[in-house]
Amino acid sequence: MSSTVDDLGAHTGRRRSASTAIEARATLDIVVIADRIGWEEKSILTAARSEGARAQWLNDGELCCGGRDDLPDASVYLVRSRSMVRGPLLAELLERVDDSRVVNSADAIAICSNKMSALARLRRAGHATVPSRLVLSRADLTKAIDMFGCPLVLKPVYGGLGRRVVRVSDTTIAHSVYDYVEHQGAGFDSALIAQPYLEGFSDMRVLAIGSEPVVAITRRPTEADWRANVEQGASFELLEIDDELRELTHAASVASGAQVFGLDCFCDGGAPLISEINHTPRFRGASEASGRDISHMLTTFLLGLQR
Ligand SMILES: Nc1ncnc2c1ncn2[C@@H]1O[C@H](COP(=O)(O)OP(=O)(O)O)[C@@H](O)[C@H]1O
Ligand SMILES: [Mg+2]
Repeated sequence: MSSTVDDLGAHTGRRRSASTAIEARATLDIVVIADRIGWEEKSILTAARSEGARAQWLNDGELCCGGRDDLPDASVYLVRSRSMVRGPLLAELLERVDDSRVVNSADAIAICSNKMSALARLRRAGHATVPSRLVLSRADLTKAIDMFGCPLVLKPVYGGLGRRVVRVSDTTIAHSVYDYVEHQGAGFDSALIAQPYLEGFSDMRVLAIGSEPVVAITRRPTEADWRANVEQGASFELLEIDDELRELTHAASVASGAQVFGLDCFCDGGAPLISEINHTPRFRGASEASGRDISHMLTTFLLGLQR
């Protein structure tokens, strides 16, 4: 069965005849592949439509697509699926036809969604990153505590929105947290990253479109939560984009292959320590802080990729 999207962007799963499939090929400019319609997806679709572009949402959580022909044809695909399985697989499927119009690419998604992989590539390219150690066993945890001391930050290799990122204040708590990982963690959930807690550093997020920084903010956590994710209620302040930031953003794009991304760094006056590259960045906070129409900028970039 072929997968289609209706006017509201909902997956319908209707069977298409060959001729309708060909018609569909000519009807869409931008397809946003995402497992939900959040503020960002709504805003991107609205911006694209206000430019006269034919834009639709494809819910990758409800797809039936064993092959490329099951996917609607469009000039450009923006892959914003949070699924670490479906996102890269769908991007790869779409790239078989034309890899220049799939954003972000399958390779970039695979690198960015694995925080260890992104950090390793950045380090290899000579960039400063947050000191990190992979924790795959209790022995790894013990070594990480020896190396970094406490407080220690533990986080999943694959994760986002600050979920399951913990700051442990002493060795006993670290081992208790690891008890849960050992007993409940399955598959990728049991792979952790340990880092020193970077106290007093400012937490910077740069939003990049077409590998160019468009908005930079510093995020400050609330009293109630030490994590500075905007989703956790963090407040933010606009930062000026200078040449150093521009170079850092280009470097992150080259190392990861991502074109649309959120670059997270910790700064204390020296070279920023890169923490992660988010390939499906949220940007409501950056829009509000800057007053810039990020969805419009993103749409303009995507439409510029059309042949
Ligand atoms: N090593 C660290 N030192 C200090 N704060 C950290 C550290 N790692 C993460 N944080 C805080 O936790 C937040 C979430 O961590 P992050 O690694 O960005 O995971 P996620 O991908 O879930 O956003 C960061 O924005 C930052 O505020
Ligand atoms: Mg983050």
